[in-house]
Formats: sequence, structure tokens, C-alpha cells
Amino acid sequence: MTLSYPINDRHRIAAPQLDVPARLLLGPGPANVHPRVMAAMSLPTLGHLDPSYLKVMDEIQSLLRYTWQTDNPLTISVSGTGSAAMEATLANSVESGDTVLVGVMGYFGHRLVDMASRYGAKVEKLTKPWGQVFNLDELRQGLETYRPTILALVHAETSTGACQPIDGVSELCREYNCLLLLDTVTSLGGVPVFLDQWGVDLAYSCSQKGLGCPPGLSPFTMSPQAWEKLQNRRSPVANWYLDMNLLNRYWGNERVYHHTASSNLNYGLREALRIVAEEGLENRWQRHYNNAKMLWEGLSEIGLKCHVAEEFRLPTLTTVRVPDGVDSKAIARQLLTEYNIEVGLGLGELAGQVWRIGLMGYNSRKENIVLLLKALQETLYA
Ligand SMILES: Cc1ncc(COP(=O)(O)O)c(C=O)c1O
Repeated sequence: MTLSYPINDRHRIAAPQLDVPARLLLGPGPANVHPRVMAAMSLPTLGHLDPSYLKVMDEIQSLLRYTWQTDNPLTISVSGTGSAAMEATLANSVESGDTVLVGVMGYFGHRLVDMASRYGAKVEKLTKPWGQVFNLDELRQGLETYRPTILALVHAETSTGACQPIDGVSELCREYNCLLLLDTVTSLGGVPVFLDQWGVDLAYSCSQKGLGCPPGLSPFTMSPQAWEKLQNRRSPVANWYLDMNLLNRYWGNERVYHHTASSNLNYGLREALRIVAEEGLENRWQRHYNNAKMLWEGLSEIGLKCHVAEEFRLPTLTTVRVPDGVDSKAIARQLLTEYNIEVGLGLGELAGQVWRIGLMGYNSRKENIVLLLKALQETLYA
């Protein structure tokens, strides 16, 4: 072969065989991946329209409905991390000029505001100090004032560790004729979620937290009401990749090519959801709660305080107050380098004030709590 140009070899580095440390991931996610999920992902890659893979897709849809407690026909995994399905909920439900009301009680509420405004929405915010949640009167007041077409809430705010109660919210939304959009990124698979009982219209999650997969896929679901709104849009969905009209033709009966979905990541998600079903939601939620309680008691015993009132504390993600005079980054670095344990730092308003400790999915286990408490005690009081 005669080449027209000389090869540029400047970037042809001799990279050594990859060697990464085995960390205990007790931060805000990713959490450690269940070994059965890792094994499933190493099965042979299949084409995205292979009949064997289409069966995997059907099983994922069914198991996701169980995990979310919904009968929504359109329940799928989006290719991309949690932010992709987050964007999908807004891209498909928001049109230029619509009013979207977002409950902002942490970092991810702000992300919803940013995304919604990029789709031309008039975005209104209800705000709460980071670590607190909204009550029904506050939400009613917001709906009364702004008359939005969508109310968007974060169920489990990963930046603060607070769990927003959802009972009663959809009744308000129906009264004001608006859809309810819910972020369940840090709740799905670890905290009770009852999408249909709660009357949620649009929801999304991620693969790398309570489900125990690597990042890369994001569960998405929409109610028949949200689907109807999508069918009656004045303008096309402004995001081709996330347009549910197109994705529904791939995930539904037609099986029309849309994009080259990762069969291997989806094998992993299928296995993770199979584990959820084997354990049973009630047992899984109880395990997360019991282990979180053990962590909270252990933290108190070593003189540390939680940021969120116990009533609204998330079992999956605990924010721990950094004691006065302690450098939160230095402690987190020491935990990582000396103990191989990752914990998260505070985000936004809580930067420098808290550590974020995740006990999610496969990682919600007693032995991890014992290790972490011992390591924290040694680094803080050495
Ligand atoms: C509540 C919440 N929403 C959305 C996201 C975005 O997910 P991802 O980082 O997977 O894109 C996260 C990530 O941690 C989150 O915690």
C-alpha cells in the first residue's frame, strides 16, 4: 500500500497494560459493581437488532417497571449516564414558551433549571436551604403562583442527602393541570419509589448507584399522559438522540434501528435488575435503611453529625458535617490513598462543610460500614 502522507507517530505511546486500584466506592456514585453484573457484561457482544438482544431489551423493560413500580408502556434504558435520561424527560415534555416549575433544594435542581431553559422553557424556581425539603403547602403555593405545565422535583438530592416526600404531590399537579417530573437517580433500587401510586408522569435514573452497574445507561419512563402530551406537541422534539417518538420505534414492536445500543452494558443492567427482583423490593429497601441506620449511629459514636434531619435523611446517601477546623479534602484524600476508600466532598453551597457517604446497591453492606467508620476514626483522630 502506498500512503499519500507520512504517518504522524507523535501520539503512538507505549501505554502499559492497564492496572487500576480496587477501591471501595462509598461516595455519591458510582458504587462498586456487583460481580454478577461484571460477569454478565463480559458475555459476547450482540448486534442491536439481534433477536437474542431484543429479548434482553424486553426483559429490561419489564424488570425496570417492577423496580420503579409502574405499568408505563414506555419504560426503557437510555444510552448515556443519568443526565441523558434527565435531558430526555425535559426534551420530550417541554416546548418553547412552556412554564416549568423546579423545586431546587440542591445541586441537581439547578441542573434541571439549566436544562429546561435550554429547551426554551420559562423556568420558575422554588428554593429551599440545602438539606431541607418542600412541604405540600409550599408546592401548592408555587403551582398557584406560576401555573406551570410541568413541576420537576428531585426525589433524592445527592448533593444534600435529603429525600423529598412525594405523597400527595400529583394530586396537586392534577388540580393545576400539570405533569409531575421526578429525578430518582439516587433513590431507584435503594429507597421506596412508587411511580404509579405517586402519579409521576416522567422519571429517570442512572445505572451506577442503587442498581449496582457501571455508569453508561439511564432508565427512563413516561406515563400515558406524558406520551399524549408528546403526541400533541406544536414543534418536533429539539433533541434527535433523545426523541421518544424515535426511541419508542426501537424499543417497541417496530424494532426500527435508532442507534447502536451497547448490548454489553444492557446485559449488566438486566443482571442488576434480576438481582433486585430476586431480593425483592421490600427486602432491598429494608437492607438499605438498616445499614444507613447503622452508619448514622456509628458516626454519632465517633463524634460526627449528619447534615439532614433524620426524618428526611436518605438511606442511600448521607451527608456528614465536617468538624470545625478539619480540612475535608485532606481527610478524603487520606481515606483514598491509605485505605482505598472513596467518599464524596460537598458540592456547591455545602463545599467544605460535608462529606457525602453512599451506601448503595451492592455496597450497602455491614462490613463496608465497619471499615469506613474505623478508617474515618483513624484519619480524624490520629
Ligand atoms: C440526583 C441526580 N440527578 C442527576 C444526576 C446526573 O447523573 P449522571 O452523573 O449519571 O449523568 C446525578 C448524578 O449523580 C444525581 O445525583
